[in-house]
Amino acid sequence: MNILAPSVLSADFSTLGNDIKAVVDAGAQWIHLDVMDGMFVPNISFGMPVIGSVRKVTDAFFDVHLMINEPIRYIDEFVANGADMITVHYEACENVSETLDKIREKGVKAGLAISPDTEVSLIEPYVNDVDMVLVMSVYPGFGGQKFIEASIDRLNLVREITVKVGKPDMYIQVDGGIGLNNVKEVCNAGANVIVAGSAVFKGNKEENVRGFLQAIR
Ligand code: DX5
Ligand code: ZN
Repeated sequence: MNILAPSVLSADFSTLGNDIKAVVDAGAQWIHLDVMDGMFVPNISFGMPVIGSVRKVTDAFFDVHLMINEPIRYIDEFVANGADMITVHYEACENVSETLDKIREKGVKAGLAISPDTEVSLIEPYVNDVDMVLVMSVYPGFGGQKFIEASIDRLNLVREITVKVGKPDMYIQVDGGIGLNNVKEVCNAGANVIVAGSAVFKGNKEENVRGFLQAIR
């Protein structure tokens, strides 16, 4: 079954707990939490204390997307604050294997993300050590950007790699510029975890969640 992971980057932070509850009650299975450090990406979002606070309002699966340099420094703290999965960027880690090992040692799921300009084949050595590959379909840093069409081919390549290494059912996440107009296309290309920020939180969020769930069934 495909999974919807609303990105709270486009939620109203003054009512974040309630916004999260609303999308979970409407059927969203995961919550995608975008952490940005102003260094790896040219934006700053939120960090551990915010995640720890909203952890109290829901049991939903917390999918934490770290857009920070050398994320290995903060794995312990994100786990202590309630992360169920931690995704790190290939481009942000000096030692990718060590970072993934650290995440898995803590008993949470591990994801590896690639930005749009990173060669897809570079992830192949790590696929056996991760639960998820995240294909960024915009340049990381901001919500509300336009989907990069070349991401379709990149998703297909990731799927080929996962089949080749014998993990055809692993999570393949797509993040950035996803709406009801293109969500079926990304699923057909291999994505099975769909991140959507502005397309969920702008307008009627419950209706938007139901629309996505219907489309990705
Ligand atoms: C971008 C973030 C995304 C973002 C997606 O760097 O990783 O998760 O919130 O937002 P939309 O769905 O609006 O493109
Ligand atoms: Zn994200």
